[in-house]
Amino acid sequence: MVFTAAQKSAAPAAGTRAPDQGVPSGAELPGAINELRRQRKAVILAHYYQDDAIQDIADFIGDSLELSRKAAATEAEVIVFCGVHFMAETAKILSPDKTVLLPDLEAGCSLADACPADAFAAFRAEHPDHLVVSYINCSAAVKAQSDLICTSSNAVDLVRQLPADRPILFAPDQNLGRWVQNQSGRELTLWPGSCQVHETFSEQALLQLQLDHPDAEVLAHPECQQHLLDLADFIGSTSKLLHRAEASDADGFIVLTEPGILHQMRQRVPHKPFYAVPGADGCSCNACPYMRLNTLEKLWRCLVTNEPRIEMDEELRLRALAPIETMLAMSR
Ligand code: 13P
Ligand code: SF4
Repeated sequence: MVFTAAQKSAAPAAGTRAPDQGVPSGAELPGAINELRRQRKAVILAHYYQDDAIQDIADFIGDSLELSRKAAATEAEVIVFCGVHFMAETAKILSPDKTVLLPDLEAGCSLADACPADAFAAFRAEHPDHLVVSYINCSAAVKAQSDLICTSSNAVDLVRQLPADRPILFAPDQNLGRWVQNQSGRELTLWPGSCQVHETFSEQALLQLQLDHPDAEVLAHPECQQHLLDLADFIGSTSKLLHRAEASDADGFIVLTEPGILHQMRQRVPHKPFYAVPGADGCSCNACPYMRLNTLEKLWRCLVTNEPRIEMDEELRLRALAPIETMLAMSR
C-alpha cells in the first residue's frame, strides 16, 4: 500500500475521530478515491439514498437485495459500503474474510433501532409456533433470531412460499408488513416498528402534487403509511420504483420515498419530470439522516485509514447467516 505524505498525516490514530484535514479538495477528490480504490482492491457499493456524488463514484448502486447479492459475490478484498449499518453488517455476514468499511459508523437506521434484540426475543417467546420473517433492516442480533430474512423487493414472493399451516411473525416494519399481508393474503403478526423517514411524508403535499400534475404516476416505497400507499399507482422497492419509471408511459412521476433515488431516475428517464413528496410542513426530513452521514470526504478517509470496519462475533455471524442464505436461495 502506497500513501502520499498528505494521506499519511491525515490518517487518525486508532479510536480517535479524525479532523477533516488532508482531504483532497473538490475536483481532486474523485481521482484520489479512484486511486485508493485501485490500490486497496476495493469495491464501492452504494444504496440509492446516498448523495449524488457517492452514487456517481460507486462501482455498483442497488437496493438492499441487489447490494447483498453483490457483497456475497464480489472478489474485491475490501467492500466500502455506502449505506447504513445493517447493510454493511449484512455484507460482513456474507463475506467474513473481506474488510467491510462503512464511511460513517454512526449511519444507523431508525427502523433497525425500533427492534431491540432482547425485546424481540420476548415477543418471539410469546409466539413459539410462529415462523419468524424479518426485514433486512434489522440488527444481526435480530437476524440471528429469524427463520427468514426478506427485503422490500422479495418480501411478498417469499411470504407466499411459506407453508400455509404455519402462523408468521413479521418484523420490524409494520407498514411493509401490512402491505405484504394485503398482497400475499397471509395473516402476519406485526412488530410495531416503522421508519422515521417514510412516516414523514405529507398527505396534503401529495394530494396537491396530484392536482398540479394529474398525469403523473405516484410511485411509493412499501415502508410508507397505509393512507399514502392507498394513493399510489405503483408500490415497490427502490429498484422496482426505478424500473417502473423507466417502463411506464406516464408523463411524470410523484415519488414517495427518500429523494436520493431521484438522481438515478432523472439520469435514466431524463425527458420526464420527477416530483419528491416533502415531509410535513415542507421540512427536508424526507431525506434519511443516517444515509446522508456518508460523504465523499468520509469515503476517501475510510479508504486511507481502512476504518471504520465492521467486525462481528463468529457465532453471531453464523446464526445471522442462516436466514439470509435461506432468503437468497428462495429469491427468484
Ligand atoms: P430498498 O430495499 O428498497 O432499497 O429499501 C431499503 C431502505 O432502507 C428503505 O428505507
Ligand atoms: Fe432506515 Fe428509513 Fe433510512 Fe431506510 S430510510 S435506512 S429504513 S431510517
